[in-house]
Order: sequence, then structure tokens, then C-alpha cells
Amino acid sequence: APKSTIDASLAPLTPTFDPKHPQRETDVLQAIIQKLGLQQHVEGGYFVETDRDQLRVPNPFDEQAGTRNASTTIFYLLTPKSPLGAFHRNKGRTVHTLHKGRGRYVLIHADEVAASSCPGGYTSNDELPESERWTGKARIETFIVGQNVLAGERLQWIVEGGKYKSSFLLPDEQGKEHSDGLLISETVVPGFEFEDHDFMRWERMMALVTKEQAEEMEWMVRK
Ligand code: GUN
Repeated sequence: APKSTIDASLAPLTPTFDPKHPQRETDVLQAIIQKLGLQQHVEGGYFVETDRDQLRVPNPFDEQAGTRNASTTIFYLLTPKSPLGAFHRNKGRTVHTLHKGRGRYVLIHADEVAASSCPGGYTSNDELPESERWTGKARIETFIVGQNVLAGERLQWIVEGGKYKSSFLLPDEQGKEHSDGLLISETVVPGFEFEDHDFMRWERMMALVTKEQAEEMEWMVRK
């Protein structure tokens, strides 16, 4: 059987719910979207901001550039109609909490250089000029979020700032093809601002991981 180029213990990462052939939103998902006041997110999926701390803190990413809200929190929902959150990164650290459903997360640690290719140990790739950025060896991490704690599924997961992140919907039960959606909360510290957010570009993906890995994850990159 073919193996994933990202994690050899897995089959290649392919969508169960194909973003190119979206299903119709079920009545129950439409009602949940309405009730929570969710809007389409540019990453894919749906979201609503539920809290924005009015406390202002210094901008930790650039002391010259204003302040940030201390934190923000959103609901985020993936559905069979909008089953993919495309690769992007935030400067802020994000705490994720599962409410319902199952999904897979894929993280690309673009800000870490493998110790083997960097004698001094880990260093920041993002601080290097574009031409000197180390390629092909960014660590990739993938895990399932879901209620089945005993099977290793996560109820809570943290994504540090600077990591590229993608997520996609999985069936509620392994082997089935049905989902009532993946609903989570995300809290970003300091609070979300679009200027702290950017999407993965295909050229960057090709620079960060092997050709085989990039091709396996191509469908998770926003066109
Ligand atoms: N506005 C657009 N996208 C987002 C997001 O991911 N978080 C928050 N808080 N606001 C947003």
C-alpha cells in the first residue's frame, strides 16, 4: 500500500471530503452556522470572533508598531461543504480546544532548521535572507483531533506562532464517510490582526519541504 511521504505510518494525505467537490450543507450544519453567527473564513471553513480582550499590550512582534489586544477567541468550523483550512501562519500562539467532530492537522515547522543541517542546533529560518533559507527539511507534524482520547486523538492542541498550519475534516467515525462538522475554539495571544497572518505560497512550500511532500500537500495550499 502507498505510504505518506510525511509520516510513513500513514496512507498518503488525501481528502475524505474533497474541497473541489463540496457536499451540500446539511440542515443541522446550516442551523448551527446560523445560531453561532458564523461567516466564511478566507482560509476555508467558517468562523466568528466571540471575544476580543479590550486590554491593550505592546506588540511583541515589533515594538515600533503599535499595540495588540491581549487575546482574541473564535469558533472555527469545518464542514463537508467547506472541509479545508488552507495552510497559513499567525505570529501569535494559538490555543485550540475541540467541541465536536474529527479532523487532521498538519504543521510545517518552517522556523526550525534541523539540527543535522545546522551545527549550532536549531535556529530561525525566517530570519535568513530568502536566498540562504535552508530547504527540503522543515519538520512536518500531523495529528488527529477528536474525542477518542484512548486512540491518541487530541482534545486540546497548541500551535506556536510562526508555524504553518492546515486542517481538514475527517469522518466522525473511522471508515465511514459522514461528518456533522468539526467545531473548535481558538484563542490567539496576543489578539488576531490580519497583518500578523499570511498564507503559504506554493513557491515557499517547494522551498521548505521535499518535492514529494509538497505534492502530497498541494491540495492544502490556497490557490
Ligand atoms: N478575522 C478574520 N480571520 C480571523 C481569525 O482567524 N481570527 C480572528 N479573531 N479574527 C479574524
